[in-house]
Amino acid sequence: MEISCNHNLRKQNTFGMDVSCACYVEYGSADELVMFFSEGKQFSLPRPFLHIGKGSNLLFTKDFEGTVFHSGIKFIRPAVPADNIPSISRTETVDVEVGAGTLWDDFCIWCAENSLWGPENLSGIPGETGAAAVQNIGAYGVEIQDIIKEVRCFDAVTCSVKTITKTDCHYGYRDSVFKQSAKGRYIVTSVVFTLSAGTGPRLAYGHLKAAAEKALAASGCKEFSPAMIRSVVLGIRDAKLPDPAKTGSAGSFFKNPVVPKIFYDRVEHYAKSKYGQDYEVPHFDAGSGFIKIPAAWLIDQSGWKGYREGNAGVWEKQPLVLVNATGKAAPEEIVALAGRITASVVNLFGIELTPEVEYI
Ligand code: EPU
Repeated sequence: MEISCNHNLRKQNTFGMDVSCACYVEYGSADELVMFFSEGKQFSLPRPFLHIGKGSNLLFTKDFEGTVFHSGIKFIRPAVPADNIPSISRTETVDVEVGAGTLWDDFCIWCAENSLWGPENLSGIPGETGAAAVQNIGAYGVEIQDIIKEVRCFDAVTCSVKTITKTDCHYGYRDSVFKQSAKGRYIVTSVVFTLSAGTGPRLAYGHLKAAAEKALAASGCKEFSPAMIRSVVLGIRDAKLPDPAKTGSAGSFFKNPVVPKIFYDRVEHYAKSKYGQDYEVPHFDAGSGFIKIPAAWLIDQSGWKGYREGNAGVWEKQPLVLVNATGKAAPEEIVALAGRITASVVNLFGIELTPEVEYI
């Protein structure tokens, strides 16, 4: 367990906010957490407590006056000996436990190298595995919950380690029990995934299907592999999203709003009056009379794409992503820009966007 004071968090939030926390705790195992909390050592630490992964879905709005915890639990442990993986039959599945502090994309690489299907559509998403399971990350028609079997956690109430089944995680769109009723109680220590040697690609997302078919034809291979889909997904992401190594962001800043159909009808009326009766507003039926409209489209229509204000900006290829354009943006610049975007979308469409990013 490593504890430091006045710890700078600039490298621990992908937005690159230059903020610090009063105390920072890095632990290496679930047992360390159990011992630390059983001995009551947490009582000497400043409150509140915040657990972060790679800080890829957070916006620090100021210095954090409490204690930030971070997991150094890194492992990828298949339930069968690694040497047996290549001989797994196509009808079989294999469970793999991954430490919460493992970089999510390191796990995606491991799966591609071992020809196991599961997380390939989620390749390239920044962040760590524990936070990915809390946030229920999703991309290209797949959510992490689709391959989760169970989540192992430290329970701060009972001071013990506990296994939560996928059903009890109550997964929803970028949501889980860890963000709702169990917030602050559980610290994810590892996640168990069920992977398969033979399910094949999930290509329901139209753009991915077209790009994957093109890659297959160009490769001369007879069938898709997890590595091929991973590489196609990385190509799509590179074309649309900022390179995290160069431009700070937290991915999608807002959630895609799910609205009653009457709101969608108004949006459609606006678009058809502007672009003609043949224009199709992108949307997805969310069931029960609700429609999901891409926030990127609403923001684009409101004229924000590529907008830059001081050090903050709206990514020119995907306006759902707000960026620290110069690397020097202060939290209030991002907050102000997000506020203005929200207000303008309300003005034009009567729809209130909610941040996907958590404000701290
Ligand atoms: N669009 C525009 N203008 C643009 C870009 C997009 O109008 O400049 C419209 C298009 O109609 C497009 C639609 O928005 O079809 C959707 O865009 P995209 O396919 O890029 O996906 P998204 O809904 O904006 C979601 C996730 C992303 C994920 C992609 C791909 C959320 C909040 N975001 O974005 O996740 O990578 O789908 O599946 O659900 C993240 O969570 O950080 C993230 C990047």
